[in-house]
Amino acid sequence: MPTFKRKRTKYIKIDPRVPEIHKIRLAARILQRGGVVAFPTETVYGLGANALDSRAVKRIFWAKGRPQDNPLIVHVASLPMLRSLISELPPKALTLIQRFWPGPLTLVLPKSKVVPPEVTAGLDTVAVRMPAHPVALALIKAARLPVAAPSANLSGRPSPTTGHHVLRDLRGKIDAVVDGGPAVVGVESTVLDLTSPVPTILRPGGITKEQLEEILGEVAVDPAVLGDGAERPKAPGMKYTHYAPEGEVYLVAGELSRMVRRIREMVEAFKKKGLRVAVLATVETASNYLKEPRPDYLEVLGSRQDLTQVAARLFAALRNCDRQQAEVILVEAFPEQGLGLAIMNRLRKAAGYRVIQA
Ligand code: TXA
Ligand code: MG
Repeated sequence: MPTFKRKRTKYIKIDPRVPEIHKIRLAARILQRGGVVAFPTETVYGLGANALDSRAVKRIFWAKGRPQDNPLIVHVASLPMLRSLISELPPKALTLIQRFWPGPLTLVLPKSKVVPPEVTAGLDTVAVRMPAHPVALALIKAARLPVAAPSANLSGRPSPTTGHHVLRDLRGKIDAVVDGGPAVVGVESTVLDLTSPVPTILRPGGITKEQLEEILGEVAVDPAVLGDGAERPKAPGMKYTHYAPEGEVYLVAGELSRMVRRIREMVEAFKKKGLRVAVLATVETASNYLKEPRPDYLEVLGSRQDLTQVAARLFAALRNCDRQQAEVILVEAFPEQGLGLAIMNRLRKAAGYRVIQA
């Protein structure tokens, strides 16, 4: 792994709906010259480089401190661009693309020769997606390059959903950040392996299992997605510590009123030990934490009736806990349906699999 020089990071504020073309061109030129640029997608911010340039891709790994055996997703803006990256387009893939692209669905397909091994960590498959964000699409089109982009956070930290999250983690290590406001989905794309006999979710995300089943019929979920961290995951990236804020996260599961009671007991116990305690709650439960024993910091993620809001706020909430210097972060669990599967997957990892059954 080469080492790279630190540099001044350009900050480019852009209109997320109608991106100013001169700003897009500026960022595209940086990509064409082998630089790395953070940009908004509908899921989270990505850290992009020319996917066909090994050295540029190495710069991503260096900036993030990312383990080299963890492959990257390649972002495309057209079907011809996709075709150049893969050796085969199965009919199922085409159906999914017609239904869900552009959008938060990543497909794992057999790779073509043009994709360098740094991108795929030596695998013979490549993960590809077409993002739905106008800035991401305009940037890829203007650069006329497939763009390899992991989430634009330091490895192990919660994924960034704003330009400022990116700067906090990567300032001085990347060429530019294009700031198009907060990401709307808030959890990353669903990674679906189409090279196995039954399409398999390697990472749950913005497109739900239920949505995929409507199109595909049978869909499997990699055991590591639901597990306690012991299984060996197929998506290499799923085996590392992830999404972790500085405080210790505890995920508390169970029937709603029991969960609330248990969290309140834990608040009391941790506060007695002199620790700063944060609680991530929901509209339905928040009032329970406004009476003694009160946590030092309370954040309401959204309503249990609408998990899109919870997903959108999740990573920012974990980062807010750091700003509040929370030493313990107690989080309510969610049912694992719809977006709940992705939310719980991220929370289990953020908690280092410390799940308390109330
Ligand atoms: O929403 C997203 O997917 C965001 C935005 C920026 O597009 N990107 C993102 O990338 O989350 P990253 O690098 O943080 O996560 C990529 C995931 C990892 O779990 C990685 O192991 C998996 O995709 N992956 C990449 N290539 C793969 C492959 N060939 N086979 C299996 N898993 C792969
Ligand atoms: Mg990531």
